Amino acid sequence: MKPEQSANSYAIGEGKKYLLITFGCQMNEHDSEVICSVLESLGYSAVLTAEEADLIIINTCAVRQKPEDKVTSLLGKYYALKQENKELIIAVGGCMTQQEEAARYIRDRFHHVNIVFGTHALPRLPLLLEAAINYKGTIIDIDEDYTGREELTAAHSSTFKAWLPVIYGCNNFCSYCVVPHVRGRERSRHGEDILKEAKSLAARGYLELTLLGQNVNSYGQDLAGDYTFAGLLRDMNYVEGLKRIRFMTSHPKDLSPELIEAVRSGDSICEHFHLPVQSGSNRILKNMNRGYSREHYIKLVNMIKDSIPGVSITSDIIVGFPGESEEDFQATLDLLKTVRFDNAFSFIYSPRKNTTAAAMREQLSHGEKEERLQRLNEVQHAISSELNLQLEGSTVEVLVEGPSKNNIDMQTGRTRTNKLVHFPGSSDLTGKLVNINISEAKTWNLAGVLEGENS
Ligand code: 5AD
Ligand code: SF4
Repeated sequence: MKPEQSANSYAIGEGKKYLLITFGCQMNEHDSEVICSVLESLGYSAVLTAEEADLIIINTCAVRQKPEDKVTSLLGKYYALKQENKELIIAVGGCMTQQEEAARYIRDRFHHVNIVFGTHALPRLPLLLEAAINYKGTIIDIDEDYTGREELTAAHSSTFKAWLPVIYGCNNFCSYCVVPHVRGRERSRHGEDILKEAKSLAARGYLELTLLGQNVNSYGQDLAGDYTFAGLLRDMNYVEGLKRIRFMTSHPKDLSPELIEAVRSGDSICEHFHLPVQSGSNRILKNMNRGYSREHYIKLVNMIKDSIPGVSITSDIIVGFPGESEEDFQATLDLLKTVRFDNAFSFIYSPRKNTTAAAMREQLSHGEKEERLQRLNEVQHAISSELNLQLEGSTVEVLVEGPSKNNIDMQTGRTRTNKLVHFPGSSDLTGKLVNINISEAKTWNLAGVLEGENS
């Protein structure tokens, strides 16, 4: 059912409260900021507990099974809340529910859910909410029409750093990945629109922007003309007031020397590449449909390291892809030791519906995958510690994000290379650039002392 346009939607949240729960990647976090903005324009205000909420929205992730399981478990818990408060509206959206099977499963299994919506439905959220107030069944909107999506603004959760999407969707169809199925084909935003938004954020005092896309390197390929991601970065570098420009995620198959040069020469462009390799075995890379070889990847990393002193390189790795032999896995361990990533996010292969890898025979047992994950993490943790140790005694620039979770006298922030730093200091440093002398390196973060403010 698709709701009809109505003139009354604007007031439907007046005096009401919403709880928004987000799973998944940065793009999903950005979508959640857009959802917040839509809800707040309708009069809703945010709360932190389900008990206080008139509206609960879960923004889901479908990349692996675990976050999907967490959503169904949460929905089970909310059944009791709905029994106590029949007016409560529960909505489930995002990548998981963009899949028709999952959308139907939620409708049939959890009758207390009012709205199931997909990744393209954000502009229609007011109409869906209004319809749900008057309709007792479950409304589903997984239409692929995204008209109006770009015009929606985000309610940024920070006053000094923000996400800025540059390209939506993905065309790559890596054989394990559900993303192209739930986020559609690549759609680049126009350069002028991105730069206009960047300038407006900078004018409002934002210091750091992260350019987002499933594969930022294919930015512009679907637009007329020959504007590339490297060109966009060069233009971003001249936006007055911006001190740090980040970008993610880069696909190794189309990372160009022009992009490396743009990062090297752009003062505001941070020296960090998140460049997922996924596997070190050519046989597995081919079965993953990644479009590059181990040798090509190593060559790219060497080019980046040679051009940009002090650069950090992080990666994603999948262990236990179908048919991964001990020899293939050894090739991945060997690649980790050759490249020496600053950090690698490792994942157990999770079969996803409608992907070609899920249909491959030779699926590994959970035990085998777990064991490989542990061995891989041991190797990577040692490398991360060694690389961090090299920073002891040096001074790094940190953008302060606020007090650390466990100790309000300690502040937390990130280096240009995206490393987490803790230091003793007061919370009025939040949102400022400071210099920190690193006194102690750990596997996951660095500790240091404040030398002075930088801006
Ligand atoms: N199983 C495990 N990990 C996956 N990723 C994507 N799809 C899967 C899957 N089916 C990982 C990849 C990707 C990261 C965002 O999630 O490593 O880079
Ligand atoms: Fe998934 Fe591959 Fe696209 Fe990344 S590039 S979103 S892994 S299909």
